[in-house]
Amino acid sequence: MLASGSGSNFEALVNYCRRKDVLVATVCLLIVNNPGCGAKARAERLGIPWILINHRDFDSRELHDAAITNTLKKENIDLVVLAGWMRIITSELINAFPKGSLLNIHPSLLPAFKGGAAIADALLAGVVKTGCSVHEVVLVVDAGPILAQAEVLITKADDHESLSAKIHQQEHLILPPIVLAKARHLAQNYG
Ligand code: GAR
Repeated sequence: MLASGSGSNFEALVNYCRRKDVLVATVCLLIVNNPGCGAKARAERLGIPWILINHRDFDSRELHDAAITNTLKKENIDLVVLAGWMRIITSELINAFPKGSLLNIHPSLLPAFKGGAAIADALLAGVVKTGCSVHEVVLVVDAGPILAQAEVLITKADDHESLSAKIHQQEHLILPPIVLAKARHLAQNYG
């Protein structure tokens, strides 16, 4: 998994994979790009190996993505989940894996509110409903095939914090089963 922030989706997926009846996938590595991020602390607590690949140490997005790709390949990883990875990723990473092997969770009902400020944008737009989407990553940002969505109603009382909390709740429900379904599919097709 790749994460930049708090890592609550990372923790939800780790716990889901650890349930006794879910044997098909393991979260084997967390890559973070921010040294002090919450995701790293969660990985330490959960006993999941993590590695910092800080984009600030690279001259371009492509070089950063190449370093990430090398690490993933070295670990024989075949399914990559972007869970709050707040970087636009390039063909260096996307084309290194078979189609459909990179998934992203996004805090809106795509195609609405693409980009890095989806929750603020939904509040600004004054819509009464937003949500979250799990989708395959393609070269165009937030535009790949949608695999699952959940709706969240916005009330007049909502601010960024409360809406973000409601969206996170739904994300933790929809992301893990989709990742597991994808892992099963990959296992059947690639052995
Ligand atoms: C999640 O809400 C995810 O949808 C969002 O970052 C949050 C990470 O939360 N991703 C994006 O905005 C990507 N454009 P978490 O660190 O607690 O999992």
